[in-house]
Amino acid sequence: MKRIGLLTSGGDASGMNAAIRAVARTAASMGVEAVGFERGYDGLVSNTWIELNARSVSGILELGGTMLKSARSELFRTEEGRKQAALVVQQNRLDGMVIIGGNGSQIGGYLLGQLGVPVVGVASTIDNDLYGFDYTIGFDTAVNIAIDAIDRIRDVAESHDRVFVVEVMGRDNGSIALEAALATGADIVLTPELPFSIPKLITRLHDDVMAQKKHHIIVMAEGAGHAEELSHYINANLPVECRATVLGYVQRGGSPTRFDRLLASTSGEAAVVALSEGHSGVVAGTRNGHIVLQETLEAVTRRNLLKPELVELLKRVSI
Ligand code: F6P
Repeated sequence: MKRIGLLTSGGDASGMNAAIRAVARTAASMGVEAVGFERGYDGLVSNTWIELNARSVSGILELGGTMLKSARSELFRTEEGRKQAALVVQQNRLDGMVIIGGNGSQIGGYLLGQLGVPVVGVASTIDNDLYGFDYTIGFDTAVNIAIDAIDRIRDVAESHDRVFVVEVMGRDNGSIALEAALATGADIVLTPELPFSIPKLITRLHDDVMAQKKHHIIVMAEGAGHAEELSHYINANLPVECRATVLGYVQRGGSPTRFDRLLASTSGEAAVVALSEGHSGVVAGTRNGHIVLQETLEAVTRRNLLKPELVELLKRVSI
């Protein structure tokens, strides 16, 4: 292996820079050249790249965002775009590609692999929605940001005897909501995975209010509904003051936690080693605390369920 390409794609996640650094430096340590395509698959299709060496990735480990920029590429969704991307890989004499991203990005990597390009992914998304991994890069940082915000909101909820609905990210997945709720002692958590009924939620709030419980925190994954709508409904149906807070993109930025820095570094290293050993069609990440290569097709098609022990814990403690 002499020369590889890498890119970051999809929603940015804190720790992507640490992964870029690990890929570039592991390649350099093996005497392999690395080039970074800009703006995800768009840069691959348009052949826009910068050379990455050990020095050019200095000072990025602790930074949020991605120095290569990221995008959700419309061009790469077309067969023509993907063929062009495979041609660019060939023209640049690349022996393989490292794709740093989440579900959609790894599907892209799989499709590129079908065109004969060796591809190894690095599991990176705040949504934690890739099957086969403990956690994906950016998730830990996002949850910690949500925890900090919910702790602050609790102060306001207590001071004003209010109900708060806090909406956290997670398009199809309630991992951020579940872990942030457990870590802050939130009263109710709503996720796309766990069935819930609004009438039951209203009854529970009503009973709590009658029992003199004066403030509540409801954590809602964006995939489970809209905080504003739920807040209006609660205000209209109960004698309480309810407010909504949507945390949004604040969860995606900022400096990565120690966990995400190490996860990104070990996964980036593993991806380059895997490519050099001839692996393709796999995504690097950790399972049970150890680095694994998960088959890409399985990672993107199987559902990453909420951790059952955390769901059980929620049943016991959120009463
Ligand atoms: O996939 C990460 C994520 O932050 C989701 O939680 C969210 O639904 C989506 O990206 C938002 O995407 P965009 O950056 O395109 O608005």
